[in-house]
Amino acid sequence: MRPRNVLLLAGIAIAGIAASYGAVVVGWPWYQGLVLPREVKPLAGSYSWSLPAGTVPTGETEPPLARREAAELLENPNPATPASIATGKEMFATYCVLCHGNDGHGDGPVSEKFFKPPDLPSIMGRRTDGYLYATIRNGGVVMPPHGYRIPPSERWDLVNYLRSIQE
Ligand code: HEC
Repeated sequence: MRPRNVLLLAGIAIAGIAASYGAVVVGWPWYQGLVLPREVKPLAGSYSWSLPAGTVPTGETEPPLARREAAELLENPNPATPASIATGKEMFATYCVLCHGNDGHGDGPVSEKFFKPPDLPSIMGRRTDGYLYATIRNGGVVMPPHGYRIPPSERWDLVNYLRSIQE
């Protein structure tokens, strides 16, 4: 092949790569339309809305707090009444049993596919209420956070329930 043709081919190749890269980075209108649908992802601060009356808020309502700090700072405001423990048990059955198992021994059905959680009744004696609360809220090393689906008061009820199964 003549040198001029080689140069021409290389030029076409480089132009092609640059064009496709540009399409992804700069984004053609239809590409952006797929990635950033405006109804779903408004730009931060562009507008806000309030929740319609009677709906359940999701998302964290408290300022961020690391588990280490929460363990030291937070105290359980909910007394461990039978009603609180019953609410906590309901939460546990709804959100935790799948991994932690019925009695918290780490034998829920998901534990076989995911990580096997520790035996809660035997390790919780070493944890403060604030630590347990923050684990529920923030999640653990691999445990997913639950703050967005369990409101603060019910998290403390869960802590009361966990204490009731502690050995
Ligand atoms: C998807 C599975 C999964 C779910 C759901 C889950 N956990 Fe966990 N949890 C784990 C795993 C795995 C660990 C151990 C590793 C870690 O800390 O992330 C753990 C650890 C913990 C610990 C011990 C943390 C420590 O360091 O001592 C507590 C307490 C706990 N979970 C409570 C709960 C409660 C309460 C719920 C329900 C709101 C819940 N978990 C939901 C998987 C799960």
